[in-house]
Order: sequence, then C-alpha cells, then structure tokens
Amino acid sequence: MSQEVKLNPVTTFTVREMKRKGEKITMLTAYDFSTASIVDQAGVDMILVGDSLGMCILGYDSTLPVTMEDMIRHTQAVARGVKRAMVVADMPFMSYQASIDEALHNAGRLMKEGNAHAVKLEGGRDVAEVVRRTVSAGIPVVGHLGLTPQSVHQLGGYRVQGKGDAAARRLLEDAKTLEEAGAFSIVLECVPEGLGEEVSKALAIPTIGIGGGVHCDGQVLVVNDMLGMFEKFTPKFVKKYANLNVNMKEAVGRYVEEVRQGVFPGKEHSFL
Ligand code: KIV
Repeated sequence: MSQEVKLNPVTTFTVREMKRKGEKITMLTAYDFSTASIVDQAGVDMILVGDSLGMCILGYDSTLPVTMEDMIRHTQAVARGVKRAMVVADMPFMSYQASIDEALHNAGRLMKEGNAHAVKLEGGRDVAEVVRRTVSAGIPVVGHLGLTPQSVHQLGGYRVQGKGDAAARRLLEDAKTLEEAGAFSIVLECVPEGLGEEVSKALAIPTIGIGGGVHCDGQVLVVNDMLGMFEKFTPKFVKKYANLNVNMKEAVGRYVEEVRQGVFPGKEHSFL
C-alpha cells in the first residue's frame, strides 16, 4: 500500500522563522504544472509565478505586456502542481499602480482564481499604501526593490541599482518602509553585494536576492535561465545548473531522425 508523505506547507511564518534561525530560503520561478511539480518535489521553499513569463514563455521583449489573465492562468497551473512550496504570484504591470481599489481587486483575483498564497509587486515608498491595504485584506505581500523590470523604461535599461551612497540610502529606506507596511519578504534584484547585506541585516523580514549577493536571506532565479532553456541572453547573476536547451535539441533531433527512418514507433510502442 502506498502511503502519501504529509508535507508541511511553507507559510509566511515558516520563512520568517527560517530567517530567524539563519536558514537560507530557496525560491525559483515556475509557470506551468509539470515544472512546478518538479521544482516543488526538489524541495524549493517558494515558487514565484513571475511576470518574467512574458519573456520566457510568451516571447515578449519585456514584462510590460503581461495581463492579469496571463498571470491567473499560469498561477492556476502552478498551484495544481505544488504540495509544499508557497506559491507567490506577480502582480503584472498596471494591475496595482492606478488605484488602491484596483490593486486590491487584482490581488484578490490572484488569490481566489489563481490559488496563489501571496502576491508580489514592484516598488518602494510609492506602493507602500497598496502594500498596507493588501496586507490588511489578508493577502500576504512580497516586495521587490532594486532593478524593477516593470520600470525598465524609467530606469533606462536593465542595470544595477543602488550604486552610490544616495541611491543605497534610498533603497534601504524603501525596504524599511515596505517592512513597516506589512510585506513579509522583499526581493532584491541587481544591487551591489554590500547593499544586499546591509538591507538584509536591517530587516526582520527575509530578503530574497537575484543578483543581490550571497548575504541575502534567500535566493531566487528564473527557472528557464538556471536550467539553460532561455537562449536570448544570460544575466551575470544567473548560474546555469543544466543546459537543457542542448539536451532538448539533441532529443528532438533524434526523434526527427528516427521518424524519418521508420525506426520510431517500434513494436513496443505499437498496438499489435
Ligand atoms: O518575474 C520574475 O521572475 C521576477 C524575478 C526576477 C524575481 O520578478
């Protein structure tokens, strides 16, 4: 008789405790059922349904065209594949900037329709009130500071943020403001290692770095980058743990060859 092992789901409480005990938090993105299920079974603590899906799944040049419908559809698929990890859904561009009512409505949809456990949104002091009201509604929020890809045109490209004393001080203040507003964790993207350390030490809530250095309380990568599936470009902070694009091309090439030569399907794959 097979017995299903009961896994303790990761919650906001779990990640806070992990920081307190000095245990590193692992986060990866996933956008579909199969990948989410593999990532979850491999032991990742948090799965981000990132709006990076705009680039690595939908083929856009940025995250800006991603819609609420895209996010809900992919969050539903991921949530169906996950047993232990916390599922965090990104709020897409312009789903929370125009008004607090709209932000609450859209965060609610990601929870109710998408089955997310938390939402993530980009920005510092400018979104503090949105964070406060969303948390008051019972929706856990992850902040996102540093390189915030939804502001790529405002930032003048995908470049390291928080360089120099004034920019570093501003980012640190933003992080404290988000914590005070009720965010339970903050993603720090593309900031100098020293600033990642300073912010992590200054907060009781965990920081999750992506190009934020080793002193962040956790790390996140885009799964398609770390598995070597996304070929367009590779940021400096990505470590490729596999080169699936080569493996997949090789496997598909063999399939094409075998079909052409009448080798596949063999007797074992046929109904006799
Ligand atoms: O959309 C995303 O994948 C993200 C990560 C880069 C943190 O926001």
